[in-house]
Amino acid sequence: MFWLPLPAAGRIAVRRLRARRLWGRGLATADMTKGLVLGIYSKDKEDDVPQFTSAGEKFDKLVAGKLREIVNLSGPPLKAGKTRTFYGLHQDFPSVVVVGLGKKTAGVHELENWHEGKENIRTAVAAGCRQLQELELSCVEVDPCGDAQAAAEGAVLGLYEYDELKQKKKTVVTAKLHGSEGQEAWQKGVLFAAGQNLARQLMETPANEMTPTRFAEIIEKKLRGASAKTEVHIRPKSWIEEQEMGSFLSVAKGSDEPPVFLEIHYRGSPKASDPPVVFVGKGITFDSGGISIKASANMDIMRADMGGAATVCSAIVSAAKLNLPINIIGLAPLCENMPSGKANKPGDVVRAKNGKTIQVDNTDAEGRLILADALCYAHTFNPKLIINAATLTGAIDVALGSGATGVFTNSSWLWNKLFEASVETGDRVWRMPLFEHYTRQVIDCQLADVNNIGKYRSAGACTAAAFLKEFVTHPKWAHLDIAGVMTNKDEVPYLRKGMTGRPTRTLIEFLLRFTQNND
Ligand code: BES
Ligand code: ZN
Ligand code: ZN
Repeated sequence: MFWLPLPAAGRIAVRRLRARRLWGRGLATADMTKGLVLGIYSKDKEDDVPQFTSAGEKFDKLVAGKLREIVNLSGPPLKAGKTRTFYGLHQDFPSVVVVGLGKKTAGVHELENWHEGKENIRTAVAAGCRQLQELELSCVEVDPCGDAQAAAEGAVLGLYEYDELKQKKKTVVTAKLHGSEGQEAWQKGVLFAAGQNLARQLMETPANEMTPTRFAEIIEKKLRGASAKTEVHIRPKSWIEEQEMGSFLSVAKGSDEPPVFLEIHYRGSPKASDPPVVFVGKGITFDSGGISIKASANMDIMRADMGGAATVCSAIVSAAKLNLPINIIGLAPLCENMPSGKANKPGDVVRAKNGKTIQVDNTDAEGRLILADALCYAHTFNPKLIINAATLTGAIDVALGSGATGVFTNSSWLWNKLFEASVETGDRVWRMPLFEHYTRQVIDCQLADVNNIGKYRSAGACTAAAFLKEFVTHPKWAHLDIAGVMTNKDEVPYLRKGMTGRPTRTLIEFLLRFTQNND
């Protein structure tokens, strides 16, 4: 890829001229657009010297120890995630960024519930790549830092920014692995990060563009491009009516934008009849709250209320690219939640696919209404397990913030699998309760079988999960409340500000591990 806005191209030309002066006439081929990211560890003991990675050592030898010399001269030892840039060391790499990796011995951190070493690499590489992007370099080579997958994730996640609708764009940077070791792991990291970036793009895109129909078309194209073993059904309103999904329809009818029920299949198992893993994602392309309308401040972020659908569909696209030997089905009820003369009114009663009646006391608790029908439909595939993801409640943000996705599950086996996957990816999960205690607060309902809000204001994330449980009979089900991890300010250092696409990588890792030890 070689795309540069004109002014930047001009600046690059000036730099090329300078290169000629720098290395003399005979060396005028130096590529001034290429940068290198190299890692350096923190000292283990006070009197140690900071250690380069093996790629760093090699480069230092190539420049006759000059890198070591200027790193020592340039200031105190580099802390984890910090960068220092050096120019003119070698003609192939006019700019070299040295990034702090923290302690070489860092592994799984028992309290943090993640692999600290991998997380440090993601953070450091992201910072290094961004530094070079600021210099408008279009090609970056990255030190694998002992874990080429984590390095690739740091590079690809760290460089991503949604600027499709801006005239002024950031320099397009291509990140490549430096050296020949770890090619396969690097490719895996690129794939995982690209999966998350797809979810970020879908979530960030404004709701006037990312309609239910558009969402379905994009996923159809991505899935077909990923594998031939796929099938996509973009179900229209008439199909949703035939399915008697009265709860989903009651939300959709408030908007002029037609709803879609997206159903995607990936048939990777050698046994065609192998029961599938079913993923379900909340696909509200805009949540105004409906008649129980939201406050206008920051309402724009409700364009990402399809984050559940975005993350589960992106994870399935990634699984298809990995050619995983399992069958997976993705289901996404997609619609807008709008106030209108046709919208749900507080106190209305609607009927879900399984016959249960629901009193809609708050039209802003719409996610659970569309998921109720989708979960009923999920059971018709005789699934091995069901996982749903949804930006369901503000309450999960109060409870966990952006530290972890809240997981409500009736299966400790499933919980362990999700947890183990998240330690690896650093996109963490935290178990939340599905007590009968909360169920009582949603089934105590004046007009119907269940109320769409709990009768008390406390524990909103738990009563929402208890509501969903009313539509689940499968013994292996997990509900992921991802409202708290939907956006990033600066908490995750390797993601820029904006929609996160979390926890796509954890879902991909879960699927990958599921195929590896199917116990
Ligand atoms: N989409 C929202 C939840 C949300 C909040 C997502 C903040 C991302 C960030 C959901 O539909 C909603 O409005 N939930 C209500 C439920 C309440 C009315 C019981 C909430 O959390 O306030
Ligand atoms: Zn809502
Ligand atoms: Zn919502």
